[in-house]
Amino acid sequence: MPLNVEQIRSDFPILSRILPSGRKLVYLDNAATTQKPKVVINAMNHYYENINSNVHRAVHTLAGEATDAYENARNSISKWFNVDRNQVIFTSGTTEAINLVVHGWGRANLEKGDVVLVTEMEHHADIVPWQLLSKERGIEIRFISVDPETYRLNMDEFEASIDEAKFVGCVHTSNVLGTRNPVEDIIKIAHERGDNGNGARVLIDCAQASPHERLDLTDLGADFVAVSGHKMCGPTGIGGLITTQHVMDEMQPFMAGGDMIEEVFLDHSTFQTGPYRFEAGTPKIAEAIGWGAAIDWLSQFDMHEVHKHIHDLAAHTASEISKIPGIKVYGDHSDPTCSGVVSFLHESIHAEDLAHFLDLGGFAVRTGHHCAQPLMRKLGISATNRASFYLYNTREEADAFIAHLDRVVGRLAK
Ligand SMILES: Cc1ncc(COP(=O)(O)O)c(C=O)c1O
Repeated sequence: MPLNVEQIRSDFPILSRILPSGRKLVYLDNAATTQKPKVVINAMNHYYENINSNVHRAVHTLAGEATDAYENARNSISKWFNVDRNQVIFTSGTTEAINLVVHGWGRANLEKGDVVLVTEMEHHADIVPWQLLSKERGIEIRFISVDPETYRLNMDEFEASIDEAKFVGCVHTSNVLGTRNPVEDIIKIAHERGDNGNGARVLIDCAQASPHERLDLTDLGADFVAVSGHKMCGPTGIGGLITTQHVMDEMQPFMAGGDMIEEVFLDHSTFQTGPYRFEAGTPKIAEAIGWGAAIDWLSQFDMHEVHKHIHDLAAHTASEISKIPGIKVYGDHSDPTCSGVVSFLHESIHAEDLAHFLDLGGFAVRTGHHCAQPLMRKLGISATNRASFYLYNTREEADAFIAHLDRVVGRLAK
């Protein structure tokens, strides 16, 4: 059944906001962060107003209620991704999840000369931590290139390097292009042939996939999956690293203190097992509860319909704005697996100037390199404007955006 977008919109108080320009907000920056439905805001308020307490520590009533709410959120999240609850390590988001892989697994398992294979399409969060480890350990980082015409990964390069790779990191869906990578093939080949037949470990960055694709992570079979709650209607400051007990056993602790500890002696310490081993200090309690509420809310929708809705809006927008003189669209929106992002650039109007005039019309879009500078260089540009759609955006909003962009370009272009 198609989404009832008007009903969905009524769950989001912010969508009726009137901006200082007098224009109604048209929020098209969903790849950066999505808006939050009232149930998420209410769940977090309920925690602070009624059960605020630390978790896993005291025996008083509030501590028990807060611990239950926090752990119930882990249940909702693990059910959504079809994994066991002990496979979900809470982090502050995708960035921290990837850093946890680099410090927890990379430091314990990689040494000088080992090959880590990532792609030119990665977010900085899946490049820079490896560069830091490379400086410390002398590991070699190899990049699978992106074809700037088709916007796809060069799988021949992947095939050429995979036998030597001990680790593969790949973004599921590009935050710039919307390209959905063949992650299923990448995982299968890396497991079969990586590390000269021993099997490479694979990390998939699902920050841009989890908001509109129902990911079955048991089926996917990646060793590590990184996600952010705030890109799927949850609050900021929460996300997860989803892995297996077997892989967790290969990891060393990253941050130390608080919940991750079992016993401390003056000369050594012992640590918890499972996800708790990697959750140091007071956890992100309200945020986890909010993310759980977001996932419970999302559970009412068929994610195929969510994907279809945002893809249709993006494909329509990409096709229409590419008719505006001077506008180039990046990404292949004719591919039905492409996500809801539309990156574009005008040949002579600076991206920031354009974004400013779009904002005056009420349209919130992202501008810049999108934390993907190697990809930008490959495309021969330094920035794009990016409109990104989510389940509460309407066809009327897309059409209003297209018409406004056309007017602005008509006025500003020389
Ligand atoms: C593909 C991708 N990876 C990683 C991140 C980083 O996510 P976070 O800032 O939530 O840690 C983002 C955020 O935009 C992203 O789009």
